[in-house]
Order: sequence, then C-alpha cells, then structure tokens
Amino acid sequence: MPTLAVYPGSFDPITLGHVDIIERCSKIVDELHVLVVHNPEKSPRFSSAKRIELIQESLKEAGVTSANIKVTELSSGLLVDYIREVDAKLLIKGFRNNVDLDYELPMAKVNRDLSGIETIFISADPKYGLVASSLVREVASLGGPVQNYVSAAVAKALLEQN
Ligand code: PNS
Repeated sequence: MPTLAVYPGSFDPITLGHVDIIERCSKIVDELHVLVVHNPEKSPRFSSAKRIELIQESLKEAGVTSANIKVTELSSGLLVDYIREVDAKLLIKGFRNNVDLDYELPMAKVNRDLSGIETIFISADPKYGLVASSLVREVASLGGPVQNYVSAAVAKALLEQN
C-alpha cells in the first residue's frame, strides 16, 4: 500500500526550512499532504487560503514540483480526524533543536494515543536551523530583509502587509 504522509503546521508563513523538509520528504514517501492547520489559539498573519497559495508559490520557486505533493488545510477539528479521513500512515515534523523536540514529543504521543499514527522527525538542515516563521514576521514587520529565510513570494506578501 502506498505510504501517505501528512506534514502539518501553521506555515504562517512558510519558510525555506519548511520547503527543504517538504522536498526531502516528498522523495521518501509516495504521497505527501502539506496541511495548513488553523490554530484557534493563534491569530495568524495570513489567512489559510493565502498560506496555501504561498506554500504553492514557494515550492514552485524552489523547483519542488513533484506531483506527489498536495497542499491543503484543516479548518477545524483534530489533526487525527484528517489522518483518519485520508488514511495517512505517517505524520512528519521537522525539528531544529531540543526546544522543538520538547514541544513536539508530547504532540507525537497524543496523536499516537488518539489514532495510532506514528510521527517521524526530520532534522532541519543546519542552513535553516535558526529560521522561524515568528522571527521572519517580526523582522519583516520592522522593515528588515527576509529574503534569506523565505521565498520571494512570501517576502513580497510580508512587505505588502506592512
Ligand atoms: O507550526 P505549528 O504551529 O507548530 O503547528 C502545530 C500544529 C498545527 C501541528 C498543532 O497545533 C496541531 O496539530 N493542531 C491541530 C489540533 C490538534 O490535533 N491538536 C492536538 C495535537 S496533539
């Protein structure tokens, strides 16, 4: 049976670190769903529709055009609801350091308890080890350059918001 994996996140906005994880994962699973998750506890900078558009544009810019990548959203409910709906076999999470792992490990346990899904952790390329969407938003909102961290499409969208 083909392996369907889900890579969930806020992607607010997608960074080059995320793009790298998507590219690497798309080569080791049969199908990869990049899932923009609406987190009711966060007020996102970009709408879900815009985040999806920026993911698609960032992948295109990076030449990541594999047909096995689908970008979609979870507008409500639990991640495991989506996992069940599409019958995914793996959850993918990227991690940069032990802070990320401390944050991710409890979620991996809860998701496994709820549905049996296993989470696979992919280490961020050190090149992107310090890139975070929150920092990118802050730098951009104060007029700083962000082109080393995000695609041109995302940099433009951030600029337009200022
Ligand atoms: O990019 P983020 O904000 O770190 O992603 C966190 C995310 C969206 C993956 C997480 O908050 C999530 O899975 N939310 C969906 C709701 C849910 O299932 N919560 C229980 C997870 S253990």
